[in-house]
Amino acid sequence: MTTLPPPRPLVSLRDLRVELGGRPILRSITANIGRGNVTALIGLNGSGKTTLLRTLVNEYPHKGTVQFHCGHDHSRPYPEAVGYVPQRLTLDARLPLTVGDFLALTLSRRPLFLGISKKVRAKSQAMLERVGVPECLNVPVEGLSGGQLQRVLLALALEPQPELLLLDEPAAGIDFKDQKKFYELISSINRETGVTVLLVSHDLNMVQAHAHDVLCLRDGAIQCQGHPTEILTPINMQLVFGAEMHMFPHRSGA
Ligand SMILES: Nc1ncnc2c1ncn2[C@@H]1O[C@H](COP(=O)(O)OP(=O)(O)OP(=O)(O)O)[C@@H](O)[C@H]1O
Ligand SMILES: [Mg+2]
Repeated sequence: MTTLPPPRPLVSLRDLRVELGGRPILRSITANIGRGNVTALIGLNGSGKTTLLRTLVNEYPHKGTVQFHCGHDHSRPYPEAVGYVPQRLTLDARLPLTVGDFLALTLSRRPLFLGISKKVRAKSQAMLERVGVPECLNVPVEGLSGGQLQRVLLALALEPQPELLLLDEPAAGIDFKDQKKFYELISSINRETGVTVLLVSHDLNMVQAHAHDVLCLRDGAIQCQGHPTEILTPINMQLVFGAEMHMFPHRSGA
């Protein structure tokens, strides 16, 4: 029996180095982000997870190589679209905008004071339905719950359909039940669209349940990478987090 070679990664990082404020933050990262996979990026606070995501969206200069292999023949050098849900929303939440206005600002070229076209309104409604918050269209952004806001941001990141979806602690601050639903939503979007997902998470049980691959950072360097069952072991977690970790799988229906 012949063994097929692993599929070409969507992103290859080779000796990636990033310095910020004169300090090395990412140190010689070499890793592949598997095409069509959900890859979880884990590590302690300050280990460089956000820096890695921001480097992928070209926010930080780097040394070494970041190579994309996009398109049908994998030869296109950049993704047509990258969806990004940042760790923190820099938008002033006190802006008197409804979710519908907020989405229209991204979807429409015409100024908001001319009103929102029916087409854009319908599109916004469909985007919210896709992420399970159809009731939020006329809600002020500042009135959204943490879980609703994350879903609205996810809806934006999915438009236009990205080849790569970067999610930086997308479920932080959401209660356990909504968190579980949020991860299930990401998994179903990954299955249905084949989008490659790189997500930062501190919830190792969710990582175990939903990721195909885990990338562990410690002090800006890769400590280990592999399938969750190989990686999320007490010994590895001791190496990554420097503390004893025990995994308690979430019970279904909890
Ligand atoms: N713009 C910047 N200038 C200087 N240092 C920075 C900058 N951004 C991040 N850093 C530093 O880089 C290191 C990694 O930060 P980063 O935000 O990538 O960590 P993280 O793994 O995402 O942490 P957390 O889990 O807390 O979100 C930290 O020490 C941080 O202080
Ligand atoms: Mg971070």
